[in-house]
Amino acid sequence: MLVSEQAHAKINLALHITGRRADGYHELDSIVAFAGVADVVTIAPAESESLNTTGPFAGDLPRDGTNSVLSAWRLLDGFSRQRGAALTPVKFNLEKNLPVASGVGGGSADAAAALRGLVRLFDLSISGQDLNELALQLGADVPVCLLQKSSRMTGIGEIVEPIALELPEGIVLVNPRIPASTPKVFESLNLQCGQSHGAAIGNVYDIESWRNDLTAPAVALVPEIADVVGSLIFQPDTVCSRMSGSGATCFGLFASLENAQIAAAAIAEKHPHWWVVATTLL
Ligand code: C5P
Repeated sequence: MLVSEQAHAKINLALHITGRRADGYHELDSIVAFAGVADVVTIAPAESESLNTTGPFAGDLPRDGTNSVLSAWRLLDGFSRQRGAALTPVKFNLEKNLPVASGVGGGSADAAAALRGLVRLFDLSISGQDLNELALQLGADVPVCLLQKSSRMTGIGEIVEPIALELPEGIVLVNPRIPASTPKVFESLNLQCGQSHGAAIGNVYDIESWRNDLTAPAVALVPEIADVVGSLIFQPDTVCSRMSGSGATCFGLFASLENAQIAAAAIAEKHPHWWVVATTLL
């Protein structure tokens, strides 16, 4: 038996930082959607636990043996052991199609896909709440990636409410192939623990009114992000463009996939070293 799960790119269409908690984590109010481009996590039973990586960005993964897919396996194994049944070993293949440390979920989406895949492979009976709590231990935006549906995400990411949004069909994702460290970007906001920051999302249907409060600190660390947003804003048919997560990936929304493809081709021609993808929102 072999199971395969798609780990779709997570796009923060809005990312309002509303404050910083006493434990150092930041409180946020975010609208998240998922795009048609994805990593692929494949899992099969094996003699011993292993991870093979393939795909265009496999070479950018950390070489220290840590990987969110293996962390997900260990966490679920520990949870199962506490209930008297350890998981048997598996071999993972991670097809890394999304740039690493790029603000589109990547490691979080992979961890969530591993959790979904392991539950299917072992036919585990685990409540949605338990799975969500395990997901949160793997990272603040793993719960939303577990669900993989358009959602409003609050708290530090653990409160996920699906939301029906009427969004433009096409999206272009652009990354300058420079990693942006999530902890460093958050730290550069310079908020004290207990300090409040920007306003929460006022209108969940008014995309123009949304912001990404991590844009300024991310641009300070990776100045190329300003050029990436600029390249999207100046396309003739862009409905809206913004940075996703802690960057450096930025997105532009377009009325149709065809419009998105035209814009992507123009950006890729001008910046052949950038990662540029036209796709649809799920
Ligand atoms: O939870 P995750 O591992 O994805 O987050 C990476 C880092 O980003 C955290 O260790 C923390 O420094 C920062 N972060 C934060 N507030 C959040 C999410 C992440 O400060 N809500």
